[in-house]
Amino acid sequence: TIAKDALRAQPKAELHVHIEGTLEPEMVFELAEKNGIVLDYPDAGTLRQAYNFQDLQSFLNIYYQGVKVLIEADDFFELTYNYLRHAHEDGVVHTEIFFDPQSHTDRGISLAAVFEGINRALAKGQKEFGITSRLIPCFLRHLSAEAAMETLHALLPYRDFFCAVGLDSSEKGNPPSKFSEVFDKARAEGLLTVAHAGEEGPASYIWEALDLLHVARIDHGVGCESDDELCRRLAAEQMPLTVCPLSNIKLAVFDDIKGHNLKRLLDRGLCMTVSSDDPAYFGGYLLDNFIAVQTGLDLTWDEVTELARNSIRASFLSESEKLEWL
Ligand code: HPA
Ligand code: ZN
Repeated sequence: TIAKDALRAQPKAELHVHIEGTLEPEMVFELAEKNGIVLDYPDAGTLRQAYNFQDLQSFLNIYYQGVKVLIEADDFFELTYNYLRHAHEDGVVHTEIFFDPQSHTDRGISLAAVFEGINRALAKGQKEFGITSRLIPCFLRHLSAEAAMETLHALLPYRDFFCAVGLDSSEKGNPPSKFSEVFDKARAEGLLTVAHAGEEGPASYIWEALDLLHVARIDHGVGCESDDELCRRLAAEQMPLTVCPLSNIKLAVFDDIKGHNLKRLLDRGLCMTVSSDDPAYFGGYLLDNFIAVQTGLDLTWDEVTELARNSIRASFLSESEKLEWL
């Protein structure tokens, strides 16, 4: 096996992390107490024991409960700063962070507070750790296309603070095609696009993300494997897949790490990257995900460095910024 320090030392970009998914149980309780919110669990240990998921939806039900303790800009600051500290410890040099605006605005939290808190942490993280960041607000796909369009309009005054929009939440039954107009509008505004596709959903959702949403990356995308033509296209276009191994195991997308298709897809020439998704819920930050796939799939040093370099290549850094890490 490859030493943890060597994996840590590889410059890595984290391209798929939901900031609300970095909310550790201890912080849930700390913020609940500060904000006067009553929780369904007596303590952090008991809450953590509830992190036993059958599928994506059973996770999302708990994740949206946790989000409710985030009220003030300072809460978003603390959340984001805490994540950046973890990321830095794992050798992450750049991160592209998802957040779910609707899970906050629907509770009466202003986008101003969300952006203010997160941006303050990103600035501090860059100063203190040298870590660069981009933000990617995601539309909740279980809600309507109209709600997503309203959210896009509400986001536009903050246009300078994010580089792309994404699509997350309950995948099955909510195909990318539902959001083609919203994504058209986002691209017309000069935004890049990404979308969760092929996490639990079928390969056809990946085709839709490519052809209808014109995404620059596919989040997860592991469902492509059943479709040879799709795999050939993803390889030919070097379309990055942001794969989250520990997430996939926790949400039973694969039975165990040995059965994960990351290496098989890498062998087929796809542009594979590794991310942590919701590290507070899935049992590990980025380095833990690298260790899990390196040991579980017997990845060579060349394969591990390819994954790390792919993450830099697939990032939304400028070409000159990428060169610093390649
Ligand atoms: N999948 C879909 N939506 C999400 C996830 C995820 O893993 N995490 C937070 N929102
Ligand atoms: Zn995700």
